[in-house]
Amino acid sequence: APRYPRYTRAEVAQHRTPSERVWVTYGTDVFDVTEFVELHPGGPDKILLAAGGALEPFWALYAVHSQAHVLELLRDYKVGELSPDEASPPPGDTGDPFAGDPPRHPALRVNSLKPFNAEPPPELLTQSFLTPNELFFTRNHLPVPAVEPGSYRLRVEGPGGRALSLSLAELRQRFPKHEVTATLQCAGNRRSEMSRVRPVKGLAWDIGAISTARWGGARLRDVLLAAGVRDNTGDSTGDDNEWHVCFEGLDADASGTPYGASIPLKRALSAEAEVLLAYEMNGTELPRDHGFPVRVVVPGVVGARSVKWLRSVAVSPAESPSHWQQKDYKGFCPSVDWDSVDFGAAPAIQELPVQSAITEPRPGAAVAAGELTVKGYAWSGGGREVVRVDVSLDGGRTWREAELGPRPERGRGWAWALWELRAPVPAGARLDIVCKAVDRSYNVQPDSVAPIWNLRGVLSNAWHRVPVTVTR
Ligand code: HEM
Repeated sequence: APRYPRYTRAEVAQHRTPSERVWVTYGTDVFDVTEFVELHPGGPDKILLAAGGALEPFWALYAVHSQAHVLELLRDYKVGELSPDEASPPPGDTGDPFAGDPPRHPALRVNSLKPFNAEPPPELLTQSFLTPNELFFTRNHLPVPAVEPGSYRLRVEGPGGRALSLSLAELRQRFPKHEVTATLQCAGNRRSEMSRVRPVKGLAWDIGAISTARWGGARLRDVLLAAGVRDNTGDSTGDDNEWHVCFEGLDADASGTPYGASIPLKRALSAEAEVLLAYEMNGTELPRDHGFPVRVVVPGVVGARSVKWLRSVAVSPAESPSHWQQKDYKGFCPSVDWDSVDFGAAPAIQELPVQSAITEPRPGAAVAAGELTVKGYAWSGGGREVVRVDVSLDGGRTWREAELGPRPERGRGWAWALWELRAPVPAGARLDIVCKAVDRSYNVQPDSVAPIWNLRGVLSNAWHRVPVTVTR
């Protein structure tokens, strides 16, 4: 057998583009697949996502690769082997509160490492209707808590001091399992477009702070009723103030203050709203980054209310006192700045406005003349199903209707629609591709960002614009 040169992972990582050569590893073998990139049946963009690192996490998501002919093909490109000492990961840094965070998928685009905030690349986001758990966007505010499932207890406080303490087994056994396919979106999705108008405070999310999963768990409604909450709680007080359900996570800052948020009690008790205390995500237990062992899932509502690593649920006449309910996740007039902002004056974001974005092609791409395929997602809050997506190739002068992909739970509007438009494009053209969605209340997206700019960069849902050139 030939003897191959040895490389470190750091050396492999230097080969990420066709000009530096494209290297990948599989097992302990190193491959130079530069010549295969353009031949890849899944497209050159996808193979480049793995460039400089291991193929396994990507191939685990796309099972077409677990065939003998794929490995045979790869064998032709072998150029080396990993050094023997590359097997063991580097020792952890013990003083770091984030040292216990779980491993993450290398495809995620990291906006902040500590706390971990990351989104899937656009090309993978619309590859499947359900986002693979490994690629689901992650929005953590604090270190990921390490929860021992055997000793986990969920505290549920009804009005008048009645409380329940539920183990994981009790949550699974005492309440029927309910499943909902729901899209979660961060209030800051597409913030980076807002900061191009004027700087805002917040993580620079691109278009990927949105993902879809099939969630399984107990209905919050059933658990609240078991804790003695009556269907009319809050009505009996005689005033018109809403009651709320406050959630706290096991994730806490250095002073012990946990993440917290609340939703109106009416939504929590509504059978149609399908609010879950979820313990499953796409058929497996929740991954640690997504709230293991139990998280709230509030369909149609900003992700910030779907509290992860759930520690307590409490019915209350007031909203959650948490910073994230009171002093964040609110929208303001474009003229409001950090000196004039009054967080008490604006309502907390709950249902999100109608949204859509183009995932393919990418801004600045050079596309081939002939038939162009434009792909993207569209979604609206509050269960308002998307009924139409309009796409323009000329900056909004003329429009065509995109084709909406299949939606497994038609009529239950919690999940996004993936859409596609095919159109002939002439060589040499410059296209300004634009999309906008319409929900079933005929809400539409605003045409530009400046009039909806706000200092925190939330609710960014203007028409999405992607300029591309067509090659000759
Ligand atoms: C399809 C090889 C990396 C995503 C395929 C197929 C081959 C292949 C041979 C066709 C399989 C068949 O239909 O029998 C490779 C090799 C890779 C690589 C040799 C690395 C050197 C990747 C990566 C991704 C990816 C990193 C994702 C990020 C896909 C997808 C398809 C596919 C989505 C299906 C395309 C379709 O059916 O529309 N790949 N692949 N591949 N690959 Fe890869």
